Amino acid sequence: METNQPIDSYSGYLHLDRLLDCQRPRSGQAEQAVHDEMLFIITHQSCELWFKQILHDMRSVADILHDVPSGSSLPDTAVVRSRRIAAVVRHLTDQCGILETMDPCDYADFRGLLYPISAFQSVQFRKIEILFGVRREQQVLYDGYAHSSRIPVADRDELRRMEEEPTLFDRVQSWLERLPFLEVGGYSFRRAYQDAVRRMLGREREAIRENEAFSALEKQKYLVETSTVEERFDTLFDPERYREIAATGRRRFSHRAMLAALFIMVYHDRPRLQTSRRLLDALIDIDEALALWRYHHALMAHRMIGEKIGSGGSSGFHYLKSTAENRRVYTDLTALATYLIPRTDRPALDPHVLHMLDGEISP
Ligand code: HEM
Repeated sequence: METNQPIDSYSGYLHLDRLLDCQRPRSGQAEQAVHDEMLFIITHQSCELWFKQILHDMRSVADILHDVPSGSSLPDTAVVRSRRIAAVVRHLTDQCGILETMDPCDYADFRGLLYPISAFQSVQFRKIEILFGVRREQQVLYDGYAHSSRIPVADRDELRRMEEEPTLFDRVQSWLERLPFLEVGGYSFRRAYQDAVRRMLGREREAIRENEAFSALEKQKYLVETSTVEERFDTLFDPERYREIAATGRRRFSHRAMLAALFIMVYHDRPRLQTSRRLLDALIDIDEALALWRYHHALMAHRMIGEKIGSGGSSGFHYLKSTAENRRVYTDLTALATYLIPRTDRPALDPHVLHMLDGEISP
């Protein structure tokens, strides 16, 4: 559609004639319209605009990660844009609060006109999920069919193509795998960290045995707990055990990527690693923000339609609530805290690695 507005005006630049002509309540115009359908339309439209911004930034972060050479510092723009994605998602969650000013009775007055329309069919939302790294298995819907069955045929091919391409998750993983500080000369971060953990646990065992305040039974209990902690660490240090855990779906990153992420967490006070650390944080932020949006959206749906099924045919609230936990992507990064030890127990960095970190030299 052509616009008549000159491009040098505010409304011309923003194509406001078209934008403000896109709100067409199904309940009718003027006095026949259900007043709050306008709010419903505008909220969805503004969400779709923000989805567009999220995709714009997410693609760019994936490209930056793809292009950054091994051993080079990460450009700060990757962090700035990732943090912005999280901020936008939080804003979408806040927007739910505006829509919740609508009375469920008012929603009931026009909801019947919407069938079979549902935001289930939001192509941009599916693109965000795919690009962020939600896997096909996670995307299976309540009735066993994939999302694509709800998406207009014309858009399905594009989504299928996207599923074949590298996602942001893939880019993060290969960027982590390229981190050059894990094995340098005779130095191995994995071995050094494992030794440090053993020393720490050895001290803890000794302290338990020598503590006269504990009974024999208590000592035994605490020693068993220490062994459980050691086993948990071993799942990270032993590549074979790690692969077994990954095969169950409890870990998704490759072993090397996971160790690299831990290295960044542990030594993030080195100026060279600070941007990388902030990126890992921002990814956790986005994952958390999306989970919170999903949960708030589920609560909003519950409040508006109770236990009715959704206009797209899902079980409604129960389906939506389940996605808040099932579609997390970066839980490996949150799990890293399991493997942190006090600063005083951390192994000192190998001098060559230190030099690489501080001197910006290539390995
Ligand atoms: C009155 C407010 C709303 C209600 C009652 C509601 C209800 C629902 C329901 C029941 C579903 C599940 C699919 C279905 O069976 O239709 C759904 C999915 C969805 N809704 Fe809403 N929704 C509301 C507002 C919004 C808004 C403002 C957005 C922002 C774009 C939105 C985005 C989505 C998305 C992206 C999905 C797909 C979620 C997924 O499959 O993981 N919804 N909605």
